[in-house]
Amino acid sequence: MSPSLFGIYVHWPFCVSKCPYCDFNSHVRETIDMSLWESSLVADLKVAYQQTSQKKVTSVFFGGGTPSTMPPKIVNTLINEIYKHWDVDENIEITLEANPNSVECEKFKNLSLAGINRVSLGIQSLNDQDLSFLGRTHRSIEAYDAINIAQKTFKRHSFDFIYTLPNQSLACWENELEKILNLGSSHLSLYQLTIEKGTPFFLQHARGDFSMKTDDQSASFFERTREMARSYGFDAYEVSNFAKSETERCLHNLTYWRAEDYIGIGPGAHGRFYNKKGQRWFERRHRAPEKWLEDIKEKGNGAHVSTVISEQEKVEEILMMGLRLSEGICLTDFSKKTGYALEESPLKQPIKILEQENLLSLQSNRLQTTPAGLQRLDGVLSFIFNYAENKPA
Ligand SMILES: C[S@@+](CC[C@H](N)C(=O)[O-])C[C@H]1O[C@@H](n2cnc3c(N)ncnc32)[C@H](O)[C@@H]1O
Ligand code: SF4
Repeated sequence: MSPSLFGIYVHWPFCVSKCPYCDFNSHVRETIDMSLWESSLVADLKVAYQQTSQKKVTSVFFGGGTPSTMPPKIVNTLINEIYKHWDVDENIEITLEANPNSVECEKFKNLSLAGINRVSLGIQSLNDQDLSFLGRTHRSIEAYDAINIAQKTFKRHSFDFIYTLPNQSLACWENELEKILNLGSSHLSLYQLTIEKGTPFFLQHARGDFSMKTDDQSASFFERTREMARSYGFDAYEVSNFAKSETERCLHNLTYWRAEDYIGIGPGAHGRFYNKKGQRWFERRHRAPEKWLEDIKEKGNGAHVSTVISEQEKVEEILMMGLRLSEGICLTDFSKKTGYALEESPLKQPIKILEQENLLSLQSNRLQTTPAGLQRLDGVLSFIFNYAENKPA
């Protein structure tokens, strides 16, 4: 069974400009009252602390938005507050997402002094034409500089890329991927482009400005990516995440995928954790930065929605998250979290059918997706959820 993890997510909702594909909770503001943001995030963290059952923190993740635009002083204050309230694991992973713009790279040293020990750089592409299609403000020369500085400054680093772009041929991607795999990183996040509702790309795609790849073409890009990554010693430990060794995997994201406990502070952040009463609890904050600030000012608490997680939601979380991982779901862990055995539950039947279809495999105390299942993960999950009511046996 996997050791228990407890993560703290901090959301910084600001970006210098908005990328046309992105539906993350990110906003562009001319001015930001940094001291108000610092005190409000500290307040949100304190209330979250009072609600969680006492635990040892194994990871912190500053996500966004663009948290590399945060003053390192605020990052430092928050890390100090975490150390003040909780016990902290000696191998704590503290990640910050960064954009490869030169102004932000200048801050890397101070961010590392503030306590960041892992950086996740949003490179997105090494090709200038594709960077401009993606509406990025940096070019490949800045990407290479940022990679260089990140590798010299932080103990651990990961690079994000987006592929399966409308005008990208498989040969072009293979060429770029080879360069990516030679960057000397031990962790990569390689995402296939998705068109999200409400983004400029959604409108452009709907009016025919560009076409996305067919499902078959996307499947070839996906398979080829895994194949090439494997040949360079990268293990595809999650749908889009690759690591050279177990210790290089992103512990914070594993916390979500293994349905362990985490709290989230800042606008739009959510958390799932056991509260002091022993209930598994869900919390969500207002997405709009100003509304979240108002909540903190008026209630002293950023949580806009707080509710007990039902037994069925617990099961859905474990399956939706765990089946993304190559390690799958440990059955002992499943029964510890739900109070019943998966093999004796109403899930048994749909799982058996999916096993016969070679989409799932149930062996050695683990439920895992097969390579074919991983490509159809949404279908696999909706089949399971629609088949049985998922009530405890
Ligand atoms: C929170 S965002 C990025 C953080 C940082 N601001 C940046 O842009 O580098 C995390 C990652 O999700 C990926 N991403 C965001 N929107 C996407 C989309 N529509 N399709 C595929 N990947 C996407 C990008 O690779 C991005 O780096
Ligand atoms: S991709 Fe990153 S930089 Fe671009 S809008 Fe989204 S969060 Fe901001």
